[in-house]
Amino acid sequence: MKIIANLKMNKTVQETKEYLTTIVSKYNKKHELTLCLPYTSLALGQFFLEGNEFIKMGAQNVCDEEVDKCTGEISAQMLKSTGAHSVIVGHSERRVKFRETGRSINKKIKLALKNGLQVILCVGENLAERNSKKTKESLKDQLEDCLKGLYENELENITIAYEPVWAIGTGKIPLMREIEQSVKYIRKNIVEYFSQKAGDEIKVVYGGSVNNKNVLSIIRIPGVDGVLIGGACLDANNFLQLLSILPN
Ligand code: PGA
Repeated sequence: MKIIANLKMNKTVQETKEYLTTIVSKYNKKHELTLCLPYTSLALGQFFLEGNEFIKMGAQNVCDEEVDKCTGEISAQMLKSTGAHSVIVGHSERRVKFRETGRSINKKIKLALKNGLQVILCVGENLAERNSKKTKESLKDQLEDCLKGLYENELENITIAYEPVWAIGTGKIPLMREIEQSVKYIRKNIVEYFSQKAGDEIKVVYGGSVNNKNVLSIIRIPGVDGVLIGGACLDANNFLQLLSILPN
């Protein structure tokens, strides 16, 4: 099972130090836990997590260019050099607030993979799409745009995070059977673009208002390989409590 924590734009360097000290000393599960830290915490993350068998470090974004004329951006190569193991791409907060397009996300994925990073690709419908019963179309379009031109063997380094936009940070989640249907549909698309094997094997996690109360039901949904957690990961002790609920 994969557990991905997205710390978003939270924690100063000092707060990150306290957070990592607690998590590293108390995490006792054998599931792969990826802590996606803000850029400013990556150096500290390397110090705390280098060589850790179960806890990996991730970033939350990467530049879609490799040339140096991108003031304020961070390249995949630079991320790799911090010891980052993976990177989130296509988070809905970036798609909406920073107008990231499928084309840009596709470039980010290719650069991340080229530089040896694992990719956590977020896809999900927004509320208007859900209300007009366009969840499938939305997922299909996003997957098609983001995965364009990739080779099947690259999928082993990609995890898809199904994150309904309306469920992020709202305390609302879809019905379990709706999550099951969407995850199944994501796999169906992978089968169509690549192969049956690729669709069966790709890792798909659920994200959006995962908390101590719903996490067990979510990880039991057929086809779900783990969870992506935002708000509920921010307090180290609360997060450890959530993790303690998971089977070993
Ligand atoms: P949330 O965030 O758990 O706070 O809903 C999830 C995410 O943004 O990926």
